[in-house]
Amino acid sequence: MNPSYDLRFEIQKLKKEKDVTILAHFYEEGEIQDLADFVGDSFYLAQMGQKIQSQAILLAGVVFMAESVKILNPEKTVLVPDLNAGCSLVEGSPYVDYLAWRLKYPTGIAVTYINSSAEVKAISDVIVTSSNAQKIVESIPKDQPILFGPDQNLGRYLSTKIGRPFELWPGDCEVHVLFHAQRLYELIQAHPEARVIAHPECDESVLKYAHVVGSTSRLLEEVKNHPAKVFIVATETGIFHQMKRLRPDVELIQAPTADQCGCNNCPYMKLNTLEKIKRTIVSFQPQVNVSEPLRKRAEISLQRMMDITIGKKVEWPREFQPPKI
Ligand code: 13P
Ligand code: SF4
Repeated sequence: MNPSYDLRFEIQKLKKEKDVTILAHFYEEGEIQDLADFVGDSFYLAQMGQKIQSQAILLAGVVFMAESVKILNPEKTVLVPDLNAGCSLVEGSPYVDYLAWRLKYPTGIAVTYINSSAEVKAISDVIVTSSNAQKIVESIPKDQPILFGPDQNLGRYLSTKIGRPFELWPGDCEVHVLFHAQRLYELIQAHPEARVIAHPECDESVLKYAHVVGSTSRLLEEVKNHPAKVFIVATETGIFHQMKRLRPDVELIQAPTADQCGCNNCPYMKLNTLEKIKRTIVSFQPQVNVSEPLRKRAEISLQRMMDITIGKKVEWPREFQPPKI
């Protein structure tokens, strides 16, 4: 018998016995996406955490995604297959430096991408993901400056889109910045019929060639619904799994990188494996935990995101008060 089939079967049995729901991001390996109870973008995963009935959730993605689920659902046990599944945006925005930056603009609204640590969320006013960011920044009072971090490319894209200046934190995604504008231009010349779709974490020189810029779920929706027969895709490779399933009839070409490696794999997402998932369900380790004072403060900015996304009106702070965490 195929060993990975065997493992999948064992995991299915174990998660039922131990009442664990598996959530997976679109950048995971196909076999992990197929095994998961729910697969989605980072907003969907945060939202599903609040809807799931089981006592334990295993998040096959990166640790900041699991932390967001824990912050919103402190009573649940939140498991990850590998605690080293970080993110270059999280690493590039240490709490002390982010706080110093934030303190320079006390009347500003700190809009922070969900790809950030719990500590950084705790000193932010609102969290965004690429699927709701535009709606959220558009709802900020016009008389308050906007600070946006830690992804400068998403921030720059939004600032241009809504015609408002942002103070940008200089962080980026080490995977998406590899896409190369000149080589993409040449690829488009070779495939003029292609629909070009890109994640907003790409550099603006790449985004300017995209017909559609959006979250992983928005890019999937485009592949599902657009009549094009060729798509050039500027995002992480894991998403091809769902794209192929939705449109087996189309040609999917990954946008090129400078060195022609064609290897836009997120090294953090790809730390997760079926073996580690099985081990985690058996041992109930590693768990993601957040101290209660930190969790309570980070929950405010995450909950504001949830509320605006579903159309609720929210109060905005007029001045930043550094929390005691
Ligand atoms: P999405 O919210 O679009 O799924 O993006 C998450 C991410 O980490 C992209 O690199
Ligand atoms: Fe972070 Fe980039 Fe990986 Fe997304 S693809 S988790 S932004 S390093």
